[in-house]
Amino acid sequence: MRWRNSPCCPVAPTRDPGRRHGAGPHPPLATERDLTRAVEVLYALLGINLLGYKPNVLQRRLLARMRDIGSASPAEYLARLEAGGPEAGQEARRFLASLSVRVSTFFRDPQVFTALGESVFPELLARGQELRVWSAGCSRGQETYSLAYTLHRSAGRRDAAPGFSVLGTDVDAGALRQAGLGVYSAKALEGVPDEVRGEMFEPVAEQRWRVLPHLRRQVRFEAGNVLDPATHAGAERFDLVACRNLLIYLDRPAQEELILALRRTLRPGGYLVLGSSETVIGRPWGLLEHVDPALRIYRRPQ
Ligand SMILES: C[S@@+](CC[C@H](N)C(=O)[O-])C[C@H]1O[C@@H](n2cnc3c(N)ncnc32)[C@H](O)[C@@H]1O
Repeated sequence: MRWRNSPCCPVAPTRDPGRRHGAGPHPPLATERDLTRAVEVLYALLGINLLGYKPNVLQRRLLARMRDIGSASPAEYLARLEAGGPEAGQEARRFLASLSVRVSTFFRDPQVFTALGESVFPELLARGQELRVWSAGCSRGQETYSLAYTLHRSAGRRDAAPGFSVLGTDVDAGALRQAGLGVYSAKALEGVPDEVRGEMFEPVAEQRWRVLPHLRRQVRFEAGNVLDPATHAGAERFDLVACRNLLIYLDRPAQEELILALRRTLRPGGYLVLGSSETVIGRPWGLLEHVDPALRIYRRPQ
């Protein structure tokens, strides 16, 4: 396996004696070869291919894991993983969890949800067939439930509306467990307008809120790595795919490949929504209609 160099994120040299970390010397940085070895051993242990991640993202997480378990060098850390056995498996899962930046909020980038509720979902519902929506990299489910709520509202404005379902997937098992429960702290609901809060949640305990059953019934969560071709096995399945704030961790070739793969999962005329700092670049550029580039809303041509 050959590491793809990303011009914006060069892999650091092996040693950087001039830099200090806290009171002690900075731990040696991973070389390109170390990172390739890490991707290979993590693939062997987890069955998850992390090749598309930006080298500097992997570098930071590797150093953080080394610090946490008191590993003196990337070579020593990798040797632990390569030794195999239950401890290596556990550490591999910790590494994967450390890659997951779970930051999310309900109705993140509210203008996007306004556009979905006012134009995209009404247009999709008017097609009359059951709608399938996918929230890829859904973290703890805030985006998935926000999509379900917005779609439910749009459907409620019509005399007759087809059914719909929203699938949330993520690599982070811990985040998915929380997503499945649909229970959130009052802090997580900050920023959700009062009237929406009343239509979306019920209080279950002091400062704890649960998504209402009729919305939970529309939503399902599954483990899945978007970089794994098996995730995209069912072509032309979805009417809308939201894959937001995940591409930023990937190098450019992996971003292009992922956008092409997501496009294949869309039915003709289906929509793709990216995060506010992500964009359709390179090979997929001409293959998608740029419906609202500022809001990162794209469409697969009919
Ligand atoms: C910053 S959160 C974004 C959550 C939500 N989409 C949003 O925009 O608020 C990124 C999520 O992507 C997930 N993720 C990262 N790499 C992934 C991959 N290869 N496959 C599936 N999920 C991934 C992380 O576990 C994390 O939950």
